[in-house]
This record gives sequence, C-alpha cells and structure tokens, in this order.
Amino acid sequence: MEGETKMEKAWWKESVVYQIYPRSFCDSNGDGIGDLKGIAGKLEYLKELGIDVIWLSPVYQSPNDDNGYDISDYQAIMKEFGTMDDFERMLDRAHKLGIKIMMDLVVNHTSDEHAWFVESRKSEDNPYRDYYIWRDAKEGKEPNNWGSCFGGSAWKYDEEAGQYYLHLFSPKQPDLNWDNPKVRQEVFRMMNWWCNKGIDGFRMDVISLISKVPGLPDGAVGKSGYGDFGPYCVNGPHVHEYLQEMNQEVLSKYDLITVGECSGVTVEEAKKYASSSGKELNMVFQFEHMDLDGGESFKWNHNKIRLTELKKIMSKWQTELEGKAWNSLYWCNHDQPRFLSRMGNDSPQYREVSAKMLATCLHMMQGTPYVYQGEELGMTNYPFTSLDEFRDIESINAYHELTEKGIVAPEDMFDYISYKGRDNARTPMQWDDSDQAGFTTGTPWIPVNPNYKEINAKEQMSRETSVFHYYKKLIALRKQYEIIVYGKYDLLLPDSEEIYAYMRTLGEEKLLVLCNFNEQQVEYEVPEEFAGCQGKVLIGNYRNDAAAECEIGEKIGLQPYETVVYLV
Ligand code: GLC
Ligand code: CA
Repeated sequence: MEGETKMEKAWWKESVVYQIYPRSFCDSNGDGIGDLKGIAGKLEYLKELGIDVIWLSPVYQSPNDDNGYDISDYQAIMKEFGTMDDFERMLDRAHKLGIKIMMDLVVNHTSDEHAWFVESRKSEDNPYRDYYIWRDAKEGKEPNNWGSCFGGSAWKYDEEAGQYYLHLFSPKQPDLNWDNPKVRQEVFRMMNWWCNKGIDGFRMDVISLISKVPGLPDGAVGKSGYGDFGPYCVNGPHVHEYLQEMNQEVLSKYDLITVGECSGVTVEEAKKYASSSGKELNMVFQFEHMDLDGGESFKWNHNKIRLTELKKIMSKWQTELEGKAWNSLYWCNHDQPRFLSRMGNDSPQYREVSAKMLATCLHMMQGTPYVYQGEELGMTNYPFTSLDEFRDIESINAYHELTEKGIVAPEDMFDYISYKGRDNARTPMQWDDSDQAGFTTGTPWIPVNPNYKEINAKEQMSRETSVFHYYKKLIALRKQYEIIVYGKYDLLLPDSEEIYAYMRTLGEEKLLVLCNFNEQQVEYEVPEEFAGCQGKVLIGNYRNDAAAECEIGEKIGLQPYETVVYLV
C-alpha cells in the first residue's frame, strides 16, 4: 500500500554501539597514549556492559594534526597505537567475545603526508595531481572566500605545486577530489581490503562533504570574515551517486554496519543516505540536536538548549524516518562536550540521577544507540583553568582567531572553549582511583579529570546502583523487548520545559517514558490511554521496583531528574 511503513528487522538495528577514542581509552605501555593492546585488555569490560559493536576512532598511521583524523596511510596502524598484529589480535579477541568492530573511515580528506598528496604537489602532470582539489590564485589571492572548519582560509598555497589546494579542515587535511574516478576506486579498494580482514563496518567521517559544487562559488561572509562553504559542499551534487557506487563496490558484498557522519543533513537528505532500500548507508549521524545551542560565533557560547527545542528536533527525526530510514541515537562523541554537563546536572548531588535520566531518554527511542567511552560512568566536562590544558586544534585555533580579531573577549572565549571544547570528551577514561585514573602508568597526553577518585569504572562495577549498572540494564532491556527497538514513537507534552514524555507502540504493547529534566519536583498528568492501566516499571532511577506490577495513577510526581519507564 502506498505510504505504508515497512519495518524490516536487522542486527544493526538491534545493536548498541560503544565508541572508543583510542588515544584516551587505555595505555598498555606507559607512554601516556592509549593503544590497541590497552583496548584488547578492556574487551571483557565492554562485554560486561553488554554492547554489540565498537566504533573505533581512527587507528591508522597519522601525523596527528587532528588526532588520527588526518591519515597518511590507510593500511598501516599508527605507531603509538601498536602494530597490524596488535590490531588483528584485538579484532580476533573482540570477535571471540561476540563484539563487532566498526572502523572510522576518513576519506573526505587525507593527511598532507599521505603518499598521494606528496606526489600530487610535485607537478601539474603528476598522475596524482587530480586526486586533490588544486586551483590557481584568483587576482593574487585564494581561489574563493571559503573559511575552514578549524579557522582561517580553506585554501593553502603550496610553493612546490605553484597552486592552492582546498582543505575544509586543517591545512594538514587536504580534501580528496571525489569527482576523480581513480580516487573512488582507490578508496573502495582500500575498504575491501579492510573488509577482507574481517572488520564489521564503517563510520564515515564527514561523508556529507565529499561532493563539491563545480566552480566552487564564494559563500556568504560570516563574522569571521570568511565565506561559508556549506551550501557548496554539504550534501553536494554527486554525494548520493558516489555512495551508491561505494555500496555496489564494497558495502553490499559484506554484512556490515554503516553510519555516515553528516553535518548539515536534513530529514529529507537522511531519507536518501539511510533509506530502508539499502542503496547507501544504514544510518546517519545528524547534528540538529547538537547545533541547538549554536550561535553567531559557531558553537562558541554558553547557551543552554531549551528542552522544548530538543524535543521538537528529536521527535521530528523519530517520526519522519519511521519506516523509511533508520536513526542513530547519540548525546556524546569525541567532538562534543559531555552531555551530562550540558543538559544534565554534573553536581555531586544530581550527577548520577541526571546521567541515568539522560541515558533513559535516549535509549528508549527508536534507532541504534551510541555510548561514548565514559558516558556509562557519568563522566563530566573537565574543569579547565588554563589554556595549556587544551590539546585540540579546533579549540586552540578558535581561541586565537576570535580573540585576536577582537570578536570575542579572551575571558569569555576561555569560558566557551572550556564549556564546549572537544577536549572535554577526550580526557582519559577513568578506570579506577589509582594515579592517573588507571589510564596510564606514565604521564597522560592530556590531563585526567580530577574527579576520577569519585567517578571510575572499578567503583561503579562494584556498586549495583551505579550509572554503569544502569546502562547495563538499559542495554539488556533493548535485547529483551522488541518494542524498544521497533516500536513507533509519539511525543507527549510538547510544550513542557520540564518533562520529556513520549510513548512507543508495537502491536498491543505500549511504553510510557517519562524524564524530568529539571532540578525541581514536577507533577505529570498521565494521558488517558495510560491512566488506570496495569503496567510494570521497566526501569527507573528512583523507582527500582523493577518489573513489579503496578497500577498507573492519574498523576505521577517526578523527583528532580527522575526518569521512569512503564510497559503496559
Ligand atoms: C569529523 C570528526 C572530527 C574531525 C573532523 C575532520 O567531524 O569527527 O573529529 O576533526 O571530522 O576529520
Ligand atoms: Ca601506549
């Protein structure tokens, strides 16, 4: 029937993914940098948590201008992380435990130290010239006015080449020219090579940017003085064609999980990238909920996300993709500050309850949930006190650019990067209360959050009421109740700034999910279809009468940051 929704089952829809940022996960040899042997040694921990898939942020050879997102050899392992043997042993061990490995695929750009680029810059008739986007100067200046994501112009003049090359990120991350069929073939060949090694999927870095509008027109000039490349690079003219080709050449040949990082993706575009017809990817990471607290100077501010806005965006994605495409669900990753410090309450009093509430709110939705390392412990933002504690190129460059141009006052900018900077997510995983949180026996590459004595995996694993055990339970529930994976989502109470309430429906079953985002107690008026019903509490951060039968009253009083899920 026209318009009828079709919901096909798939293992990747039923999975929970855990993201590892290898540099900060576990250091096995005391050099202060996390590594593959470190990861291998913690797989049992992840098994215990119950996750199905690990998304491994890049482990390839890289000069680390952007911590591995600048790759100089796609088929070699970064020296600091170990060897290809270490990788294979880790993969094998994960598979034995029933855990799949999803690789990060960074192919919008390479490192400027990649052999292709080294060749490319040599001369105009070099066979690799056309692997990148080279242009002549325009009236003695950059070929167009685009600014890069990490500050400054998106073009760099190369003496050796005698031309400018395009880099949407740092100058050490030149953009590949996807319009060149040889580039596509090389990328597909490399992907097949990894698939033949037995990896289980790809998370595709900024994949929505690979196709640029011909002519590379100037963009609208913003506060920074540079033009916006967005309209000419995001969801560009051939992006779907190239991904369909990738699907035919690689993805369709294996049983993989695929997710495209798609900044600037709209619901309409997502239906193409992640259509249930399976011609491109399984799902995308959309950014609309993350961008809600953005402002004039990109993300640098202290704005709070309004709950009504968050609900509107999340609900739009839930309802519009229903039966047509599949959602990914995330609050955290290596590019975002800790969500607990952003939308929850990271004070000692409410840290744990609010972490559990945020987790419930996300994990009861339709889609594949992603847990970012430390999120399952309620790890928080880092209390920065000086600029030298920052490591991230994005924060450091933005600080200099915006303060030196007089756009933002230095004290304010320091507050903004402390609150929104990516390093908040990149401080070492907190394993126990020993020195450096058990992450390393040496000096960590980035400081450990001083709250590791209170927040660490060892303590939480030994305490039933911990955030860790709560995540474990959420993950187990998803395996037990189909409604959590496949049920249809409906938002309740769209106008409340305190409560996020929604229901899920599958056949005769219904779930009622209640989340108080507020520090005050609130009263919730139960909708007719639930009031007076016999149900059971599936999970809650105050009501721990799990699975107990109960009658749902007409009103439910919710404690500060309380969450509860009823099944009827
Ligand atoms: C993606 C990555 C981010 C990186 C950027 C450039 O957004 O998640 O960490 O800096 O792409 O590769
Ligand atoms: Ca190490």
